[in-house]
Amino acid sequence: MGVYCCSVFAFVLGVLVFASTLCVDGGSTSSFVRKVEKTIDMPLDADVFITPPGYNAPQQVHITQGDHVGKAMLVTWVTMDEPGSNTVIYWPQNSKKKRKAEGMLTKYSFFNYTSGFIHHCNLTHLRHDTKYFYSVGLDHTKRTFWFTTPPEVGPDVPYTFGLIGDLGQSYDSNITLTHYEMNPTKGETVLFVGDLSYADNYPNHDNRRWDSWGRFTERSTAYQPWIWTAGNHEIDFVPEIGEDEPFKPYTHRYPVPYKSSQSTAPFWYSIKRASSYIIILASYSAYGKYTPQYKWLEKELPKVNRTETPWLIVVMHSPWYNSYNYHYMEGETMRVMYEPWFIKYKVDVVFAGHVHAYERSERISNVAYNIVNGICKPIKDQSAPVYITIGDGGNLEGLATNMTEPQPDYSAFREASFGHATFDIKNRTHAYYAWHRNQDGYSVTADTMWFFNRYWNAKDESITSA
Ligand SMILES: [Fe+2]
Repeated sequence: MGVYCCSVFAFVLGVLVFASTLCVDGGSTSSFVRKVEKTIDMPLDADVFITPPGYNAPQQVHITQGDHVGKAMLVTWVTMDEPGSNTVIYWPQNSKKKRKAEGMLTKYSFFNYTSGFIHHCNLTHLRHDTKYFYSVGLDHTKRTFWFTTPPEVGPDVPYTFGLIGDLGQSYDSNITLTHYEMNPTKGETVLFVGDLSYADNYPNHDNRRWDSWGRFTERSTAYQPWIWTAGNHEIDFVPEIGEDEPFKPYTHRYPVPYKSSQSTAPFWYSIKRASSYIIILASYSAYGKYTPQYKWLEKELPKVNRTETPWLIVVMHSPWYNSYNYHYMEGETMRVMYEPWFIKYKVDVVFAGHVHAYERSERISNVAYNIVNGICKPIKDQSAPVYITIGDGGNLEGLATNMTEPQPDYSAFREASFGHATFDIKNRTHAYYAWHRNQDGYSVTADTMWFFNRYWNAKDESITSA
């Protein structure tokens, strides 16, 4: 009898576990509810914003890919007191032979703020898969950092991207960045989905908050490239105070290699990195037919050679599929313009931010509609990307907690928590994706998915979705 009871219990338990797994497969809203706390910015004298010691010491050091294939690194830093040196000294590990590169200098003013001296220097002709040291500054204030270049572009090159969005500079932002750094799955490059400093939330867009953000993130951005996407908080358009040049602080501080992909503006561009082809799109630049961005993307997508770069990743700020009641439908007009191309060219995944929460979609498309047929419902589509909203970096505006109900079929998983993710490419067929919430230990994953590449291995992954 006891044995019988145990077997019945085990059977019932098994059914329950199986059923709960099934429930998680598509259309799941996490039951995790974060403690209600206000998200506030760290004060300007917080230790994470500390200015490096010494007169005119370089600060706010950050790097990004400097060409199309990962053989160049664009280094940026700021000196506050005087122009100082534009030179970067750099050398590969295990080599004493030092090289020198000369950069350029820029600065800008914004209402009553004047920036420090912003230096940009592109280190070119680097060797792939090599650790380099680099120094900026002069004499006693010289500062040295390091980075590793990516392996040569190729179809089965493993590579791990971090995903961070809408970061800001609150106490929660600091937790997010720490969790990214401490994650045992080590991200090698961050795909940043837009909204950096949130300086524009301060009176007259207090640009000292751009400086503090640069100092806060330096502990990561000086050591691995962050691939930048412009969000709405980068627009900084305030004609009432005479600031009518959109994106002025952002473009002065965060250069990107847009010319190497024949783009005509720094808001949309592409890079190859390891086994991936990454397309950055601009939610806040014109994208309608005949616009520069439209014409660029129309030419760009056919250039992607999946035999060389199997993984086709698109990054933008405003999500196309979003079931939160924040920024609802804001990505819709761009979706109408570009979604048929994403299906045709089998984009693997689209990362966006803007909504301060987390969401992952099923593979769906909504491209059948025209004015006559009225067909306008998202349907499962194995040629479509997975859409991931990762705008949960933790900025001072707080979490988006209010969701549309019931959860739409296309929404696989959603949760209003701060966090970050990693996209860990194993080879041309498989990539392991994991989202981490800030409340958990560093190695705990809160949502995971094995991605099957759309070109090489286009099986339906939904049964393996966590
Ligand atoms: Fe945003």
